Amino acid sequence: MTEPNHFMLDGEPIPFQPGQTIMDAALAAGVYIPHLCHNPELAPHGSCRVCVVRANGREVSACTMPAAANLEVESETEAVRALRVAILQMLFVEGNHVCPACERSGACQLQAVAYYCGMLEPRFTQFFPRRALDASHPDVVLDRNRCILCELCVRASRDLDGKRVFAVSGRGIDSRLIVDAPTGRLGDSRLAVTDRAAHVCPVGALMPRQRAGDPDDRRGYRVPIGERLYDREPISRVGDVALHDRSPGAGAGSHAESARQGAGRPAAGFPPRYGSEPEPEPKSKPAPVSRLEPEPKSEPEPVSRLEPKPKSEPEPVPGLEPQSKPEPSPDAAAPSASVREDL
Ligand code: SF4
Ligand code: FES
Repeated sequence: MTEPNHFMLDGEPIPFQPGQTIMDAALAAGVYIPHLCHNPELAPHGSCRVCVVRANGREVSACTMPAAANLEVESETEAVRALRVAILQMLFVEGNHVCPACERSGACQLQAVAYYCGMLEPRFTQFFPRRALDASHPDVVLDRNRCILCELCVRASRDLDGKRVFAVSGRGIDSRLIVDAPTGRLGDSRLAVTDRAAHVCPVGALMPRQRAGDPDDRRGYRVPIGERLYDREPISRVGDVALHDRSPGAGAGSHAESARQGAGRPAAGFPPRYGSEPEPEPKSKPAPVSRLEPEPKSEPEPVSRLEPKPKSEPEPVPGLEPQSKPEPSPDAAAPSASVREDL
């Protein structure tokens, strides 16, 4: 029997306020439930299903299920974890997610949640859908290949920016994000880089080209591996991509503003996935993150592909004089017109 205005989550009582969902109450109590389409600034949507929990024996989405007394909720059980992993595996094959080649790798919420949930391999056959990339906007790129149709940008544009730049069209496998513009192109829409919609995408589908809305700061693509959002700590500590948004359009008191004030610190109260052991004290020399920073060898070998060892001058072979190379034409090195247009 739980106290009034408490429900049980994995055996722990969680307090809630009337009107809160299981997700709201869990996050407020410092308990992380994996999620993608949830954003506390926006109305619940329930589209990604990654937040699945079992409430009184029934699978529900924690972000839409109202909290209630006497609910027995399971989140970190093997059965629920297996469900989440299967949902994530479906999300990965539905789009074209090529993490090693993605500018968002390391700062992508889909990737971070997959790591958190222990999804380390594919399971289903890839769909390989053909989806359009839209690089027509000077400040924001839309790559539909990575879109998980969470509609965070749709809701942010409608409810926070008052613009309705985005919508989802089609059904099932043909669903796609569309843009409100006569041409359908982002560059012809009313989207501004300072819009909240430009900063809520949990994956690399909607990416500002610049950081902090500063037109002179084009480092949005250039945060190196090892310094990206989830490179050193799990998402349960770091929090959502949108929490770390630095758009000047995000007002004081917003989630983004709170995150900015806490930048560099783990999101408050989000425990690591397994257990509640405190983080170990840093040693005098911090251990490198093995995946990203291998231990330097005493004398690093040159990488043969990049730093070939100097060869001795080859002996000239009589009768095989080296031919002089033709001068490259001025157009040869220039990118094609179509590529330039896209960039
Ligand atoms: S572009 Fe990003 S925020 Fe918008 S629906 Fe797709 S994944 Fe969600
Ligand atoms: S976070 Fe609950 S359904 Fe997406």
